[in-house]
Amino acid sequence: MGARRRSVLEGTTERSAYTGPPKDSSAGPGRKQRRQVTEAILLVGGKGTRLRPLTVNTPKPMVRAAGVPFLTHQLARAKAAGVEHIVLATSYLAEVFEPYFGDGSALGLHLEYVTEEEPLGTGGAIRNVASRLHSGPDEPVLIFNGDILTGLDIGALVRTHETTGADVSLHLTKVTDPRAYGLVPTDDAGRVLAFLEKPQTPEEIVTDQINAGAYVFRRSVIDTIPAGRPVSVERETFPELLATGAHLQGMVDSTYWLDLGTPAAFVRGSADLVLGRAPSPAIPGRCGDRLVLPTAQVAPGAKLAGGTVVGEGAFVAEGARVFGSTILPGAVIEPGVLITDSLIGTGARVGTRSVLADTVIGDGAVIGADNELRSGARIWCDAQIPPAALRFSSDT
Ligand code: GTP
Repeated sequence: MGARRRSVLEGTTERSAYTGPPKDSSAGPGRKQRRQVTEAILLVGGKGTRLRPLTVNTPKPMVRAAGVPFLTHQLARAKAAGVEHIVLATSYLAEVFEPYFGDGSALGLHLEYVTEEEPLGTGGAIRNVASRLHSGPDEPVLIFNGDILTGLDIGALVRTHETTGADVSLHLTKVTDPRAYGLVPTDDAGRVLAFLEKPQTPEEIVTDQINAGAYVFRRSVIDTIPAGRPVSVERETFPELLATGAHLQGMVDSTYWLDLGTPAAFVRGSADLVLGRAPSPAIPGRCGDRLVLPTAQVAPGAKLAGGTVVGEGAFVAEGARVFGSTILPGAVIEPGVLITDSLIGTGARVGTRSVLADTVIGDGAVIGADNELRSGARIWCDAQIPPAALRFSSDT
């Protein structure tokens, strides 16, 4: 534990020390021989507050989506793109990652873990792992938020980075309602013009492009992020780089993209993985209407559809119907239950005839028979709801 616990806090510069591309840079337009990206940093240290109670016992990237910790899908996609070495920047519930993924060899990867004593934010976390990278100053390093499910063509982002000679390249995605996001307008050539805070008025919606949470950094740019203090890459590093004349390139890729930060999004993402709408080489089975893990039991008269996954050791009884939902390991769904677009936590129990829609049940919670839970209800871990105690309608 000791070696992992020692954070790497080099340098004490207060502001970005970016001074432009290295003199010996060989990147840039017209470059013939392109480099592969072989190293990545995954940001997995957030508290995941929006996802509670799913993140009370489990950090967001370790919550199971389509039968495996969500992070597995990201690691597998990075590996498929040619990445060999990944540094996981951990903080909240940091101790659970290494026992599960070890040195990464089972996935054909070399994994390392660096834990922050105090959360350093997205930029601080990137800087904090810099000394673990083997890439040269001019080489590309892939960086992912640990809660994004996307079909992004990682190779295309790296190629964009290399052919434009950018300092940082960002995956941008287009959203129909940009009000909840920081906006990233670009010029005709894709060069980033600004990083704008969440728009407050219609006039401020100058683009529908948002930061999709996947970047390629020139390695030397990582070294310019101030060390030893919290830094937000979105709010501090990127705007400062722009202000100092750095080349930030946006690549719009309108493939599947979902930020799994909320319970509804997480449930949707897991179902889309099962259905094959969101691509992942790490699904433990065949994509289709349902995914039942080998040690789960589903009664012959139960109906599962819409990308439902039933985790290890879970049980779905006769007459239960489960649509578009995630049943985590060891959960029990009693007879006649109807569950739609919901997540049932590890070891939780849902009593006979209960109806759940858009609901999250925390680990170990017990929902008595004949309850009705809807519309974003969150039942905390180990809570007990007596039979027929909660309804959202007057009828049974
Ligand atoms: P919320 O609390 O629900 O907003 O979720 P979050 O804590 O995950 O924050 P957010 O979604 O903004 O984080 C984006 C990505 O950065 C996620 O993959 C987080 O795990 C990661 N992240 C956020 N803050 C930190 C941090 O201080 N350290 C590290 N290592 N990662 C972080």
